[in-house]
Amino acid sequence: MTETRFDSLIPDYIQRLEPYVAGKPIWEVQEEFQLQEVVKLASNENSLGPSPRAIQAVQDSLVDIHRYPDTGGLRLRQALADLYDLKVENVVLGSGSEGIMSYIMRTFLDREDEVLTADATFVGFQVMARARAVQPVSVPLKDYRFDLEALADRITERTKIVYLCNPNNPTGTFFTKAEFDRFLERLPSRILVILDEAYYEFACDHPDFPDSMKYRHDQVITLRTFSKAYGLAGVRIGYGFAHDFLIRNLHKIKLPFEPGIPAQAAGLGALEDREFLARTQEMNRQGLPFFYKHFDRLGLEYRPSAANFILGILKSKDQVSALYGEMLRRGVIVRPLERFGLPHCFRVTVGTESENRRCVEVLEEVLPAVRG
Ligand SMILES: Cc1ncc(COP(=O)(O)O)c(C=O)c1O
Repeated sequence: MTETRFDSLIPDYIQRLEPYVAGKPIWEVQEEFQLQEVVKLASNENSLGPSPRAIQAVQDSLVDIHRYPDTGGLRLRQALADLYDLKVENVVLGSGSEGIMSYIMRTFLDREDEVLTADATFVGFQVMARARAVQPVSVPLKDYRFDLEALADRITERTKIVYLCNPNNPTGTFFTKAEFDRFLERLPSRILVILDEAYYEFACDHPDFPDSMKYRHDQVITLRTFSKAYGLAGVRIGYGFAHDFLIRNLHKIKLPFEPGIPAQAAGLGALEDREFLARTQEMNRQGLPFFYKHFDRLGLEYRPSAANFILGILKSKDQVSALYGEMLRRGVIVRPLERFGLPHCFRVTVGTESENRRCVEVLEEVLPAVRG
């Protein structure tokens, strides 16, 4: 219902936005369908739980939470700088990588600027652009992959920011070093590139994957997160790397006390826990081919993934709705992708072996009726 007396308070471009709808939480599905066991493979979280060292670090930090956090986040920024052979001045922290993306949009974007991305990618970027009164320009994916040539063709005098997501959420595909090199050659040096590498830890072994930290282009801001491979989605901690001039300006608008003390501690603990990271990567290495094998067996179209999720491709939005609803009733939560610009597709996160098995069992059960 609209409260017309407040209309004049809300700018048009905010009125046109829709609140974000996240994947359903486990408790909601348990209550709604009276289920004990629910498997959530909808939000690309880490099914191994948080890193044990991160848990310990958070617990140890709790005695300090009557104090404000270190506004510079220096210990964690230093640890990240050491890991990637950078200076502290090249690192920014935020409440999730999405928090940093919002700093970027607030720092660099003016109403008259254009921003450019792909149609079917992480929706956060497009929402943040609209919240700044900027309508994003987007180009179609090509066979579910970022089409960097088409993006470069769409650059205009007004283009200020290009958002690239590699590997791309929700398709799991990535653009290669050769494609990225060609794109950078065509890119005017005044344009800022947000390179969202939320799933870097799952892609880094692919020989063709362009690890942006090895590129060090002054116009590229790399975003990474502790939410996925490090299992810390709930504490909200992400980080970015960029030229110190850009980072200095981001710090002007950054909320000074973000991220909080437990989040900074969790990040430090998780960074030290290389064993947990290796286990997570191994779980994914086992899980992806398991899904491929069964998707092949079930005749379900998909794209090979360089992330911790897989894109399932059906014929229509109706099929996806039916699949989602029937799986939900059986206690398996996957993600329909209408909001991501792919209404005929859904996304499954790779979980533990038993979660993956349950997901395939349920898929097998519901697919015949879904296909009609
Ligand atoms: C590509 C991409 N970027 C950013 C995010 C947000 O991550 P964070 O939890 O670090 O804000 C996500 C989360 O799903 C994502 O998939």
